[in-house]
Amino acid sequence: MTGPAPLELLGVAVKVGVAAAELINDLRPTGRVDVASTKSSSTDVVTEIDTTVEDFIRRRILEDRPADAIVGEEGEDWAGSSGVAWLVDPIDGTVNFVYGIPQYAVSLAAVADGETLAGFVINVVSGERWGAARGVGAWRSLGAERMQLGQAEPLAEGLAHALVATGFNYLPDLRARQARAVAELMPHVRDIRRFGSAALDLCALASGRFDAYVEQGLQPWDLAAGALICREAGLVVSGLDADGVMGEPSERLVMASSKALAEEFFALVVACGF
Ligand code: IPD
Ligand code: CA
Repeated sequence: MTGPAPLELLGVAVKVGVAAAELINDLRPTGRVDVASTKSSSTDVVTEIDTTVEDFIRRRILEDRPADAIVGEEGEDWAGSSGVAWLVDPIDGTVNFVYGIPQYAVSLAAVADGETLAGFVINVVSGERWGAARGVGAWRSLGAERMQLGQAEPLAEGLAHALVATGFNYLPDLRARQARAVAELMPHVRDIRRFGSAALDLCALASGRFDAYVEQGLQPWDLAAGALICREAGLVVSGLDADGVMGEPSERLVMASSKALAEEFFALVVACGF
């Protein structure tokens, strides 16, 4: 049996993701958004809109692909029989969303046999979008402007001039460890940025707005779409397995950069204690 075409899945992701972003804009009140509950720590928040939008996304995906599974950040998992599972982050950057900082996104990825086949991320406020289909490539669009994403220009000055995006987990102990590792990293790179949405950070990296990215504690729905977009744009995305050997990105570690920087950057990340 042949599996679904990545481009077909990307078409579903774009249609549902754009509709979800419209729904978020319709539902968001002015000012701060009320927190409905918390998850891993008291700062890891969920709003009613996160849950409503995840339900909407699940219903809309199942209308087109009724036999697929759904794994969402906020709701119960939904079992399927097609072999395709959707990783759904209805609002990546929920803290930004609560405060009204215009840096939050819908992130959708379709996965089969452990491989991400399609990924779509939309900045809900600006409408900027990124999509990728496995083996086909990655693109970015804003209004009528649309471009294919390709390998970034090599950084002439190397790692010392690299602008590195990162993020911090909600668990205080892990945050403290991440902060120590970032302090080690700082003297070796140009600077760091922390914008508050891992999905948008990875898309920004794929668009050449950063030179590298590192974060720990991400979940599959935070990273799957952005990681495919980076890889299809020619970047290297990696992690560390339990034995400290370079492997697939995971909750333990996600690091990404151009091919030219990857070896040196990944070694620095490990040396800094991430
Ligand atoms: C979070 C964001 C943030 C990252 C956290 C994620 P959420 O997702 O992606 O940038 O640093 O690790 O949990 O909670 O806003 O969906
Ligand atoms: Ca998220």
